[in-house]
Parts: sequence; C-alpha cells; structure tokens
Amino acid sequence: MQKEIRLENITKRFPGVLADDHVNMIISAGTVHAVVGENGAGKSTLMNILSGLYQPDDGRILVDGEQVRFENPRQAMRRGIGMVHQEFMLVRNLTVLDNIILGFEPSRAGMISRSVARRVLKDLMNAYKLDVPLDETVERLPVSMQQRVEIVKALYRGADVLILDEPTSVLTPQESRVLFAAIRELVSRGKTVIFISHKLGEVLEVADRISVMRDGRVVGELPASDATERTLARLMVGRDVLMNFTPPGKPQGDPVLEVKEMTVKDARGLEVVKQVSFTVHAGEVLGIAGVAGNGQSELVKAIVGLVPTCSGSIHISRRDVTKASVKHRRQAGMRYIPQDRAWVGTCRQSALWKNLLMGYEHYRKFSRFGLLRLDVVRRFASDLVARFGIKTASLYVPAGTLSGGNLQKAIVARELALGPRLLIAEDPTRGIDIGATEFVRRQVLQVAEGGGAVLLVSQDLQEVMALSNRILVMHKGQIVGERMPAETTEEELGLLMAGRATRGTHDGR
Ligand SMILES: Nc1ncnc2c1ncn2[C@@H]1O[C@H](COP(=O)(O)OP(=O)(O)OP(=O)(O)O)[C@@H](O)[C@H]1O
Ligand SMILES: [Mg+2]
Repeated sequence: MQKEIRLENITKRFPGVLADDHVNMIISAGTVHAVVGENGAGKSTLMNILSGLYQPDDGRILVDGEQVRFENPRQAMRRGIGMVHQEFMLVRNLTVLDNIILGFEPSRAGMISRSVARRVLKDLMNAYKLDVPLDETVERLPVSMQQRVEIVKALYRGADVLILDEPTSVLTPQESRVLFAAIRELVSRGKTVIFISHKLGEVLEVADRISVMRDGRVVGELPASDATERTLARLMVGRDVLMNFTPPGKPQGDPVLEVKEMTVKDARGLEVVKQVSFTVHAGEVLGIAGVAGNGQSELVKAIVGLVPTCSGSIHISRRDVTKASVKHRRQAGMRYIPQDRAWVGTCRQSALWKNLLMGYEHYRKFSRFGLLRLDVVRRFASDLVARFGIKTASLYVPAGTLSGGNLQKAIVARELALGPRLLIAEDPTRGIDIGATEFVRRQVLQVAEGGGAVLLVSQDLQEVMALSNRILVMHKGQIVGERMPAETTEEELGLLMAGRATRGTHDGR
C-alpha cells in the first residue's frame, strides 16, 4: 500500500483570496505529517484539493510518482485518500452502519451485503481499537464518537492516506489520547496520516514531519524532532508569541450571576446538574474545570436559557431570570460564546456582516425607525474584523466561506463587541490559532477588568488556570471543590476532576 503523495505548486483562488499559493509538499508513506498555520493560512483548502473536494487552479498531485486528477472525493478515495473534515459530513438520522456503507455497499443483494459489511467492519474496528456502535443513529452520538465513525468510514472505504482536519478540536484531552493511540496503530500498519492542528504540543507528540503554512504558502518544513513549540509558533505567526498571563487579583464587585441550588435533568430525566450554587461577581473570572460529560455543558445551557432548570434559581444583576427566555437574558447583559460555534449562533449562508450584527439589530445605535443604519453597521463590522484579525475577502461573503478558525473568531468578536456585563464562555479558544488565542484570552480578561463578570468553562486546564480568579471543579453534576489558581496545580485539579478528594476546606459540598 505504498502511497507517497507529492503536491507540486498547488494554487487555489477564491473570489478575493489566494487560499493556496504554489504549495509544495511531500508526504511519505507510513508517516504522520502535520500541517500547521494560522487561521486562514490555507490548510483545509489544500487538503480539500488532495481529497478531491476542490480542484486546484494550478499545480499537480502525484501518488507514488503518478500524476492524478480528482474530480470528486470518490475518485480520491479510489486512490486510497480519505478525509475527515472540520465539520462532519454524516447523515444525522441514519445509523452508523448505513452512513458507512452508503453508496459503497459490497453488493446489491440487500441483507447479505449488510452482513458482509458488518463482518468487515468488526475486523477493522478490532484491528485499530476504534469501536463504533453500528446500529445507533448518528444524531444520538457524542461528537467524539461521530468523528470515530468518520474515521472508520474512511478506512472501510479503503483509505491508506487519512487526512484529519483539526480532529482534536472537538475532543477532550482524554479522547485525544485515544485518537493518538489509533493514529500510531494506523501508521504502524503502513498507513499515512495527515494531521492538522493548532495545538503545537500534540503536533510535536504525534507527527514525524511538520509543514508550516502562512498566507497560502509553505514557510517551513522540518522533522518534529527538530521543532519546538516556540520555533513553530515563530514560523507560523512571524513573531514571538507570549503565552504568559498574570492571574488577575481578587475582585470584590457586586454579584452579577447568582446560581442557587440549581438542578437540571437531561432528556432521559436523569439529574445531570445537582443542587449547584455559585456566584460570579463584577470584575471576576470564575473558571469551571471538569472532564467533559460531568454536567458542565448542561449547566451552561441552563444559565443561558437553552434548557429549563428543574429546581433552583438564576439571577443576573439581581433580576430573577430562572424562567426568562434567551432573549431576555441577553437584554440583561448576558453574552454567550458557545462550544459548537460552527452551528449555534451562526447563519452560514448569511453575509459575515449580518452574522456580526446578529442580536444587536434592534439597538438604537444600529437602527432608526425600523431601518438599519448601514453606514454605522458597516463601520461596526469592519472594526470587529480589524480588531479580531478575522481573515476574509470582504464583509459581504457568506459566513460559511470563512476558514474554520475565522468563523470562530467572528462569533467571539460579536459576543465581546459591546462590553458584556456577563460573559458565558465555553472553550473560547477552540480551533483558534495561537496568535488569536492570546488575543481572545486578553479580551476575556478585559471584560472582567472593565467590571463585567465571566463564567469560563474550558477543557483546557492551562486556560482555566491562566484566566480565572477562582476555579470550581465539577464532577458528576456537582461542585466538588473550589481553588484559587495560585494555590493549586493542574495535578490537583486533575484529581478533583476525577472525583478524588484532596486536601482543602472548601470541598465536599
Ligand atoms: N469555499 C470557499 N469560498 C470562498 N473562500 C474560501 C472558501 N474556502 C476557503 N476560503 C478562503 O480561503 C482561505 C483559506 O482558508 P482555509 O479554510 O484553507 O484556512 P485554514 O488554514 O484551514 O484555516 P483554519 O485554521 O481557520 O481552519 C480563507 O481566507 C478562506 O476564507
Ligand atoms: Mg481549516
């Protein structure tokens, strides 16, 4: 299954953008080749070309020395190249098995072909330790499992070269470990993995070689053993990126968000948040740490107003909003950076400027007598694009044409735009490149410095430690500990997150 891939002078233009500019890359068989670079550098576009989704304007692709042309992903698949996209492409209301065999049935004989497929898949899942529930409907699966389905689907269809576009941005640190083990298994069996990520630590861990892209060009290529996070960051951004923050001091403002004895049930009626109480004050960043699936996301959804509470109360600036709509909570000064920014709070078909204005249309500043003041709106939108470094050809392109990270930045920009009184931020730097991560973190701190209150829920313990005045740890729907960042360590938080008690007087509520 030798599969050496050569990309020669690959060039791709979109209206107003040169996404890839004479890109050269050699990807050796049986290796993990990482591609890193800032948001909008051209990584996904390049891989979309290699996987047949887009055709290059110029340049050529060679597979084992032979020039190929892919009109569509199916043709690329026939040459053993498969891709798992930043946004998954599964049919949500079909089962896993149907998604995998859709259009690739082993024979036309109905039942028989399904049982053949099932057997082949069982072997495959065993070989790579990638179990997926074949008879479950896709929409019932957590994202990490959906991703695994995409990987199994590509392997079933014969991928020898597997392209993973930011696979870990939807995974918890624990789930990432499982993925890395699978990647090692794939490579040890002669497969090739192309791995895109903004997390340089994991790139160094998993890759053999690394290509660095900037503004559509490859600006460096080196073996992972010769690279450090610092050298990669400098190549990517063109300057040193300082990731050090001084943790904020002790704020003593008025309570902005008060959650009292709140209980939330999930769709099956199980209590996923149990009697949780806490207060976030003006000027404070309260961090919530926890292993995904311990109630944090339901806690956030209840505070934002997306799911009802079962008991308890929520106050924003002393107003009872327990039963209020999302809209009313926003009017009370709440802003929300959701975890799933590709879909929540975005309209991909609408122009970027409309997405940036979403939720503010009726502000007096932006409309008069029911008409938008287009000049003011345009200035507002272009100011956000400049401040947040959102890479786009114009304000008028559909938001969905932005690169993954630039769309994320747009949502963050909108929610931070008018100085929120209360910011609920879920993994605010997921999918965002290192330069922009630094910027977004400063913005979050500025909300607090300006007298706002921030509730930060993040998978990234370093992020929680760096930005929070105070950290609550959640485990099985309860707050199991409270720590000041200066008085704890990632190890201690890790133990609390795993449900193991440590020293301390605040615990055991
Ligand atoms: N379908 C499209 N139509 C118009 N422009 C596009 C399209 N796809 C990508 N672009 C533009 O091409 C450039 C490169 O985007 P690409 O998605 O390749 O970046 P990326 O390196 O993957 O970034 P990220 O890290 O944010 O995912 C961006 O400026 C983007 O807006
Ligand atoms: Mg991308």
